[in-house]
Amino acid sequence: MTPFESLGLKHDGRTLWVLDQTQLPDAEVWLDGSAPEDMIALIKRLAVRGAPLIGVAAAASLATCAARGASAAEYAAACAALRAARPTAVNLMWAMDRMKAATDPGAEAQAIFEEDVRLCEGMAQHGAALIQEGEGILTHCNTGGLATAGIGTALGVIRRAHEQGKRIHVFADETRPLLQGGRLTAWELSKLGIPSTLITDSMAALLLRDGKVQRVLVGSDRVAANGDFANKVGTYGLAVQARFHGVPFHPVAPFSTVDLACPTGAAIPIEERDPAEVRGHGRLRWAPEGMAAWNPSFDVTPVELVTSLVLDRGVYSAGQLRSGVLARVCG
Ligand code: MRU
Repeated sequence: MTPFESLGLKHDGRTLWVLDQTQLPDAEVWLDGSAPEDMIALIKRLAVRGAPLIGVAAAASLATCAARGASAAEYAAACAALRAARPTAVNLMWAMDRMKAATDPGAEAQAIFEEDVRLCEGMAQHGAALIQEGEGILTHCNTGGLATAGIGTALGVIRRAHEQGKRIHVFADETRPLLQGGRLTAWELSKLGIPSTLITDSMAALLLRDGKVQRVLVGSDRVAANGDFANKVGTYGLAVQARFHGVPFHPVAPFSTVDLACPTGAAIPIEERDPAEVRGHGRLRWAPEGMAAWNPSFDVTPVELVTSLVLDRGVYSAGQLRSGVLARVCG
């Protein structure tokens, strides 16, 4: 395969390497994700994560195993197993359906990677045009270069606005329970030199009340045909708070995140993760042993709370979304 590289993924022509996101920001450790069974484990434990990146990484792993001589039956089985590694982000299913139909897996995986880079540029261009000079922008989870092959979804928009000299200030939710905001978005913002402040999730309402935030930008793992969308748990609460305070709220996503087969958000499957992630981390446990805990990884925000959706191909208001614009622009 032709070598390619992004912030969290690199292929040297023989081996696929992924940056272990569970070890950030403390250590930058690259792991071999060439074998599909290894990639499935990496995706399940969020060493590789973010809706677009898991599709790109799964495709690259499948292409690598094909290049190493996998039989047609092994390829088909690996494709199906990768497709089922996580249930909510539809980009994974989208990429695996492309790989299943591909006649040249290496070329297809390369095309999926390069397309994701271009889609990020499209979102950045359309999204940054919304942002005004001096805005405070609140974001949730990690939606940057670690979550995509390119500059990101919501964080890509933020990065572009910063590069345009708009003097923005970012507030990053730490994003319980796995702290993608505190560990990963904070790491990316620091590397990019974007003025920013980390908050715990429960502080967002105060910032909105105090007029420190002029816009909320989040990513998405799946957008339903009517504009309802799933994203990291906590996004729905932010949307409610933003509406109460009259602050514009925008999901940002590539067309590969749109699932026209889901008529509304009620049809989006939501991943439930191990309750132990809520009770503690590693050897540290803050809840009593055996305490019941609930751990949905995503929630669904209804289109009524969306100001507009930023796609790679344009910006669509809630009214346009409700009247079926996604079937026209993504169908
Ligand atoms: O569980 P994660 O870390 O994969 O969740 C990621 C998110 O929720 C992102 O906001 C989403 O994938 C869209 S942006 C790339």
